[in-house]
Amino acid sequence: AAHDFDVDNRTGFMPPQAPPSRLPADWEPWEIVLDGAIAEGLQLGDKPGITQVEMNQSELWRARVRELPVLEVSGLIRSETDLRRAHLVLAWTMHFYIHSLPPDVPVLVPAPITIPLFQICTQLQLPPVLTYSDTVLYNWTLKTASEQPTPALDNLLSQTLFTGTNDEQVFYLTSARMELRGVEALELMRSTMDEAFVGDDLAMRRIATFLARMAAVIDDLTALLATVRDGCDPTTFYTAIRPWFRGADSDPAKRSWAFEGLAADAYPAELSGPSAGQSSLIHALDVFLGVDAFSHAAALTGGSGASKTSAFLARMQLYMPRHHRNFLTQLAGNPRPLRALVANGDPALRDAYNAAVQALKRFRDHHIAIVTSYIIQPARRVASAKAVEAEAEGPLKGTGGTELAQFLKAVRDRTAAAVIES
Ligand code: HEM
Ligand code: ALA
Repeated sequence: AAHDFDVDNRTGFMPPQAPPSRLPADWEPWEIVLDGAIAEGLQLGDKPGITQVEMNQSELWRARVRELPVLEVSGLIRSETDLRRAHLVLAWTMHFYIHSLPPDVPVLVPAPITIPLFQICTQLQLPPVLTYSDTVLYNWTLKTASEQPTPALDNLLSQTLFTGTNDEQVFYLTSARMELRGVEALELMRSTMDEAFVGDDLAMRRIATFLARMAAVIDDLTALLATVRDGCDPTTFYTAIRPWFRGADSDPAKRSWAFEGLAADAYPAELSGPSAGQSSLIHALDVFLGVDAFSHAAALTGGSGASKTSAFLARMQLYMPRHHRNFLTQLAGNPRPLRALVANGDPALRDAYNAAVQALKRFRDHHIAIVTSYIIQPARRVASAKAVEAEAEGPLKGTGGTELAQFLKAVRDRTAAAVIES
């Protein structure tokens, strides 16, 4: 049943009700410390021109984190939504803690965070780091109370922000709106699989109409992606927002993260920061359409260490809520894969399929244009202001840890290659 996959037929990978904005009273100390980071407007520890006053203030906040009691988590495990909230609160607090440190101070995440966070991660099968679910899927509330069964796209607010800026909120809500718009794509997948099971000529004609609608939905996702430009300023994003997302694999000072209270062999092999590469919706489109993005990504991320040899997109599934990961596994196991039907089908079906693939390719073209505005160009501006060679630090990396330009183009080209020639 769809319920087992935690996919709602009105809100898809987003929960149908706004997630809790507060943990039960026993865990209030965590909420208070996170409130403190936000209220004090904590600054990035490597912000150019950070003042001594700002540095003292953030050290006072970090001292409060270190002095928290190590709270028991067993009382949380009965509620999935409380567990998610606990992951969110502790992961945000950890990122505030790490990225407010001066860049020359080693990263040691204090035990009151690490011990409960790792226990919660075992329950949720999630890594101990900020994820797309902490910033987007479970980080929203309704702007105004509504009786409607599905949140309207313009009726969302983010719960937690690093910077308190509208730019940051626009960045998260762009993804949230895409998730909601994508619900129709999930419906079309289900209808297609039902018709594929029937398998007669009428069913094939129906599948062609579903694919035409799928192409239109994907074009709407591209249009929604473009709206990030209405309110999220690229320079603000690049200099003030994005550095808070950095995972252990993208510390500019190359520090490793140590977790107080845990044996070093319990440390995760890698920890990437949040990326919409963790969106189950986009993975589902690839799996459904048979875009072979995964194996190609595997070829690109090859490098030292077992973790690096696994594909980025497959790796990103480990950062998704486990029910959504299971949904994708189930979808991938579809005994009547769409591409096989299309390959044996008539030209009308093939054209409809190709139109959907081309829409996904246009989505990725547009995404590359966004990444150019929001990362590649601001990185150049920063480098030229510092009069350093942009090349000096190696290829630009995404918060998910990829060499972004090469990676995104490869995924885009792989999408284009899924078109079935006549
Ligand atoms: C991947 C940047 C918005 C969907 C990536 C990557 C970067 C990036 C750098 C490479 C992976 C990494 O290392 O992090 C951006 C920027 C955005 C933005 C700067 C806005 C300012 C979005 C939105 C979505 C999205 C709103 C939609 C949910 C994806 C997907 C991938 C990805 C699906 C994996 C690669 C693929 O499937 O093509 N993004 N992104 N991005 N992003 Fe975005
Ligand atoms: N993955 C996005 C980036 O690298 C958020 O900036």
